[in-house]
Amino acid sequence: MKTLIVFASSHGTTEKVANIIKEKLDSTTVQTYNLKYKPKIDLSDYETIIIGSSIHAGSIQSDIKKFIKDNTISLMQKRVSLYLCCMDEKKEQEEFNNNYPELLRNHSVYNAIVGGEFLFEKMNFFERFLVRKISGVSSTVSKLRIEEIDNLVNTLKK
Ligand SMILES: Cc1cc2nc3c(=O)[nH]c(=O)nc-3n(C[C@H](O)[C@H](O)[C@H](O)COP(=O)(O)O)c2cc1C
Repeated sequence: MKTLIVFASSHGTTEKVANIIKEKLDSTTVQTYNLKYKPKIDLSDYETIIIGSSIHAGSIQSDIKKFIKDNTISLMQKRVSLYLCCMDEKKEQEEFNNNYPELLRNHSVYNAIVGGEFLFEKMNFFERFLVRKISGVSSTVSKLRIEEIDNLVNTLKK
């Protein structure tokens, strides 16, 4: 069974999670696909599609929104799992529900909120200012939930 992990990432955390999932599942049958570099995609070779995005200012990545919109019919015929990288623990479920369409959330075999990272060295001036102001955090921090990534992987291994 071939698996594709489609993701979009600003500072690399969603990509990091895609690679962790790939390694934990089976790196020989799983491919990762960064929408930033390869916007066009043929899903016909894959039985399972994992979709990952981060949240920035309340929204998932526009490339992921477009990917879901363009491929909804095809995705409904595949085994799908969704994950989200984010740092606002209070709003994370709301952010997940607001950004991934209900049809896909219900179709997905596992919906994972996997935490995230603030990588100050990769942020521009404006992003640093915004993150400091909104979250009060002013240096790099990682809050990835490996156990939730494992839950996703274990569901897909069944
Ligand atoms: C400018 C900026 C805005 C963010 N806005 C949100 C937000 O609205 N809600 C949230 O839960 N996390 C927010 N985050 C946290 C990101 O989702 C987190 O840093 C994530 O790990 C980024 O993943 P990426 O590097 O793959 O894009 C924000 C981060 C940055 C840098």
